[in-house]
Amino acid sequence: MKNARTVFLCQECGHRSPKWMGRCPSCGLWNSFAEELDTVDRAGTEVGDRGFGSRPVSIDAIDAHEKGRMDTGMGEFNRVLGGGLVIGSTVLLGGDPGIGKSTLLLQVLHRLAAAGLTVLYVSGEESARQIRLRAERIGALSPGLVVLVEVSLGAVITQIEVLRPSVVVIDSVQTMYSDTYSSAPGSVTQVREASEKLIVHSKKTGIPLFLVGHVTKDGSIAGPRVLEHMVDTVLYFEGDSGHDFRIIRAVKNRFGPTNEIGVFEMRDRGLVEVDNPSALFLSERPRGVAGSVVTAAMEGSRPLLVEVQSLVSETNFGIPRRTTIGVDHNRVSLLAAVLDRVCGFNLSGHDIFINVAGGVKIGEPAADLAAVASLASSYLKRPIDSGTIVFGEVGLTGEVRGVGQVESRIKEAERMGFTRCIVPRSASEGFSAGKVVDVAGVSTVGELIDRAL
Ligand code: TYD
Ligand code: MG
Repeated sequence: MKNARTVFLCQECGHRSPKWMGRCPSCGLWNSFAEELDTVDRAGTEVGDRGFGSRPVSIDAIDAHEKGRMDTGMGEFNRVLGGGLVIGSTVLLGGDPGIGKSTLLLQVLHRLAAAGLTVLYVSGEESARQIRLRAERIGALSPGLVVLVEVSLGAVITQIEVLRPSVVVIDSVQTMYSDTYSSAPGSVTQVREASEKLIVHSKKTGIPLFLVGHVTKDGSIAGPRVLEHMVDTVLYFEGDSGHDFRIIRAVKNRFGPTNEIGVFEMRDRGLVEVDNPSALFLSERPRGVAGSVVTAAMEGSRPLLVEVQSLVSETNFGIPRRTTIGVDHNRVSLLAAVLDRVCGFNLSGHDIFINVAGGVKIGEPAADLAAVASLASSYLKRPIDSGTIVFGEVGLTGEVRGVGQVESRIKEAERMGFTRCIVPRSASEGFSAGKVVDVAGVSTVGELIDRAL
């Protein structure tokens, strides 16, 4: 039942319509209408109140004391949250369906419950029986973990008020439904309304809130992207169903560093923390094979060693192919052009396949030099010594530029038993030769090829 006046607004130009339209008559955009509460009355003035009801305060009188953090019982999860769950914070956990969002949060809630807290798991997706079976499988049967199967937003908030739990999980925000709006659950309007109400409630009561959101390619169901700006922390699950490991990345965090990652492995009893991610990603590395090279990528505050592999083969006909997995496509085209121009290669007559082993994605320019080394190694059919790691940014003229956090990258290489690091010349200064790791500086791509191949 509708109990408030709503209106459909074009999200692009703000055109108002009493009913949904496929195309905005004003700006011409397709599929841009979303239902919203009508806050403008006939005379054109704003009505309604959705605020916190707070007053202006002098900035030096604000209590900035962090209310403390909860230990979630999982080190890797604490790490992505910036050192534990902040009291009163709201966290969005996004990811593809089936990647492990429900499993992870159930495990976290179990650990909090085992520590003596009352925690609430609200599910709009699974039956109580299904949740119990999953909890049995991962050993999460604590009496303090309370399950509520509900999709009505009002009922969920009522139950939170009755139970007063220490943490709330909403799995998923796309199933929540408010009868203020006639739009279907999962639509932008419903997702936004449910999140807004839950977030305001969480801020008022100080109860930390996890919202689970599915990322869908289909535009008909609202992705969690519409709520990224409303929450304090946004975590995304990476990894695919073809691999067992899962990476959780903090893409936004008001209470900690962004881009911090937590690495987990999906086992038959739930997600298990990976203590040594570099070892996991290098475990099946071939030795002495052309095209394989290891680089040190910074993921948040932690260096991660990963293997970059290339296959360069002559193009049989037509336009050469460029296939990249885990590295940016344009970046690889650029680096191939640099190799052609500066080193006299003929990559424009070759197909290029380049892959980061294990399904890791690296976005850092510091991986450039490794991509170049890997392409050159495959093109020249000469392997790179397997005890070598390579990192540095490559410019258009083939110059090798400095990157940040050189020391921690080299430390990680040393820890993993590597004996030589090829780094930008500017970064190599200050590292004396003859230590455990030999640090060699290069200033051009040509120099890299001379040294490494
Ligand atoms: P799930 O947490 O339901 O994913 P999401 O909530 O993100 O949709 O994860 C489901 C997948 O995880 C499913 O394919 C089975 C697998 N899984 C395991 O491999 N081991 C386990 O212990 C559990 C509970 C799930
Ligand atoms: Mg789920």
